[in-house]
Amino acid sequence: MLRLFKTTKQKKLLSSVIDGDIPSHIALIMDGNGRWARRRNLPRVAGHRAGVESIRRCLHGARELKKVKYMTFYAFSTENWQRPSSEISYLMDLPGYFLNRELKTLMENNIRLGIVGDISRLPDHTREVIEDGMAQTAGNDGVYLNFALNYGGRDDILFAARKIWQELEAGNLRQEDIDKDVFASFLLTGDMPAPDLLIRTSGELRISNFLLWQLAYSELYFTDVLWPDFDEIHLYQAIADYQQRSRRYGGLQQEE
Ligand code: IPE
Ligand code: IPE
Ligand code: MG
Repeated sequence: MLRLFKTTKQKKLLSSVIDGDIPSHIALIMDGNGRWARRRNLPRVAGHRAGVESIRRCLHGARELKKVKYMTFYAFSTENWQRPSSEISYLMDLPGYFLNRELKTLMENNIRLGIVGDISRLPDHTREVIEDGMAQTAGNDGVYLNFALNYGGRDDILFAARKIWQELEAGNLRQEDIDKDVFASFLLTGDMPAPDLLIRTSGELRISNFLLWQLAYSELYFTDVLWPDFDEIHLYQAIADYQQRSRRYGGLQQEE
C-alpha cells in the first residue's frame, strides 16, 4: 500500500485506479524543472536534480500497480543540445546520479534499464554508466524502464527509413514486406508496444519531437504540475483520467 495516499479521497483514487484498466506502457515528458527552480530562486539545475526524485516516485507508484510493464521517460531531446553547455554537462551527470542511487532498487524489483536514442554522442562517462546499468539489469524482465536520451522522433523515423533501405539493398527485405509493424520494428522502440498513455507536465501542450510515430493512438494527459513536484498521486490521477477515456482507434464504441 502506498503511504502517500492518506485522505479518504486519495484512498478512493488508489482503489479505483487499482480496479480499472492499467496502461501497460506509460510515456512521460518530464518538463518544468527550470521553472520549478526559478520559483525557488535556485539555479535551473537544482530543478533537474529534484526531478530525479520524481522518476523514483513514478517507478514506485507504477510498480504497485503490477500491470505497468513499460515506462519511457523523455530525459534529453535532440533539440536540448541548444542549451548552455553548463546545463548540458549537468544533465549528462544525472544518469550516473540516478543509477548510483537506484541500481540496487532496479535489481531488487526486477526492473530492466533501456535507452531510446543515440547514446554514442554522449560524453564517455555518461555512456559508460548507462551501458553498465543496462548490462547489470539485462536479465530483469519485470518492468522495462526506458530513458529517451538524445532522442528525437523525427530522427527515429529517419534512421528507421535508412536501415530499411539498407536491408532492401542487401536483399534481406522485399518492398512488399514493409508494413506498419515491420516499419515500427526498425524504430528505436523496437518491439515495445506503443505507449497507452502519454503524460506531459508543466502545462505545455505539445509533443516536442517525442515518440512521433508511436504516439499515434496514445491517450494524452497534460498537467500544470511541474516535474519535480510530480508524485505517485499525480501519476494515479493521470491513470484515473486515462481510465475514463474511450479508445476507439477510429472505430466505434462496442455498444454503438
Ligand atoms: C525538463 O525541464 C528537463 C529537460 C528538458 C532536460 P526544463 O529544463 O525544460 O524546464 P523548463 O521547461 O525550462 O521549466
Ligand atoms: C521536452 O522538453 C524535452 C524533455 C523533457 C527532455 P523541452 O523543455 O525541451 O521542450 P520545449 O522546448 O518546451 O518544447
Ligand atoms: Mg522545458
